[in-house]
Amino acid sequence: MTHSNSITLTNPKNQTAFDMPILSGTIGPDVVDIRDLQKKSGMFTYDPGFISTASCSSNITYIDGDEGILLYRGYPIEQLAEQCGFLEVAYLLLNGELPNAAVLESFKQEITQHTMVHDQLNNFFKGFRRDAHPMAIMVGIVGALSAFYHDALDISSKQHRDLSAIRMLAKVPTIVAMCYKYSTGLPFMYPQNKLTYVENFMQMMQGTPCESFKPNPVLVRALERILILHADHEQNASTSTVRLAGSSGANPYACITAGIACLWGSAHGGANEAVLKMLEEIGDVSKIGTYINRAKDKDDTFRLMGFGHRVYKNHDPRAKLMRETCHEVLNELGLHDDKLFKLALELERIALEDDYFIAKKLYPNVDFYSGIVLRALGVPSNMFTAIFAMGRTVGWIAHWDEMISAPDQKIGRPRQLYTGPVQRDVPALKSR
Ligand code: CMC
Repeated sequence: MTHSNSITLTNPKNQTAFDMPILSGTIGPDVVDIRDLQKKSGMFTYDPGFISTASCSSNITYIDGDEGILLYRGYPIEQLAEQCGFLEVAYLLLNGELPNAAVLESFKQEITQHTMVHDQLNNFFKGFRRDAHPMAIMVGIVGALSAFYHDALDISSKQHRDLSAIRMLAKVPTIVAMCYKYSTGLPFMYPQNKLTYVENFMQMMQGTPCESFKPNPVLVRALERILILHADHEQNASTSTVRLAGSSGANPYACITAGIACLWGSAHGGANEAVLKMLEEIGDVSKIGTYINRAKDKDDTFRLMGFGHRVYKNHDPRAKLMRETCHEVLNELGLHDDKLFKLALELERIALEDDYFIAKKLYPNVDFYSGIVLRALGVPSNMFTAIFAMGRTVGWIAHWDEMISAPDQKIGRPRQLYTGPVQRDVPALKSR
């Protein structure tokens, strides 16, 4: 971060002028450093939804929303999605550099050694109804992990933080698969060390003790890509939630649980499930016009799910990769005539030619096609957001670790513009 210039602000009430430094990163827009604003002017800034606010500095992920660029540690998402596996990308996000073959092998080994969960954790599932939403179970179970791994909860120790990171990365897929098995009434499947990270997850989801699981490389690759594309996205709502929770010194499992809870919302990670529900509701190409009109109607709360993004105002590079994967998976499974995929392609085409979507720069986002891929992989729609959480866990951990290690780390504590009643006296009960 460099400081090259400053901006002068003047308080119109008393004409006092004060300089605010301008900071530059390595790429992207400069920022006005307002940390001293309150001290110098007595005023706060007002920015609900953080539209114009950089909440931190970070060297993990960069997005250029106008150009449709996404970089993890400087590497374009397209190259990572083509050339790397998920654990390679996870290592990159956690450590800043891509691993060489030997380092990658030992990282994989380390993750593999931590994939089982404490046996006692199985009992927690029994407290949930069988029809509980998997994200509700995830919030409970991942939160409960802090009650099991007391040996590495000193957040000031890098060694403890690294061990917690490995544990979370290794155990979250096991927990996601357990959520699914619990809902179907089938027995939990133990992880198998001979399988890769993604194969192992598929085995725990789709295998049964009666039938050995045979991975299909095209489908494995598709899930690997979903995880890579969801692995990080700089200061999105759930990552910011993890940072805020972690800023108080809360343990990493509690912080990741906060991220999972935030991700669940339909404006964020819940969108992939919402897209599929929407496509099923539309049902037929002939009804697309009606739904597009509803999305444009200010008096209707309906939005085109899987469309729009706070940062991408050109295209979401993840959506293009996801569409490619969708083609590959449907071809592999002989589902090229899939009704929902055809509907999605047509909906995308019509929306992209519509003045409303053009004017508001609304393009398909990553979630528009990921649900169709997951559905083709045999994953039920209520599991989609849990799979998003599985991919994003590594991003959350990388940001949590970066925040804890920052020399200027402070508890996150925004201020407000108070609009309530001014001070008044409590009237006696009988006179109210
Ligand atoms: N359908 C119809 N209109 C939309 C949509 C949509 N999907 N998205 C935005 N708009 C309109 C919105 O009504 C607003 O219009 P106006 O300026 O007239 O008030 C304008 O476009 C700007 O929208 P906004 O809500 O102010 O933008 P935002 O940056 O606050 O919200 C968003 C971004 C992703 C929450 C929103 O586009 C949305 O709700 N999309 C659908 C849900 C979705 O697909 N979410 C997944 C995001 S990608 C994965 C992830 O990061 O989790």
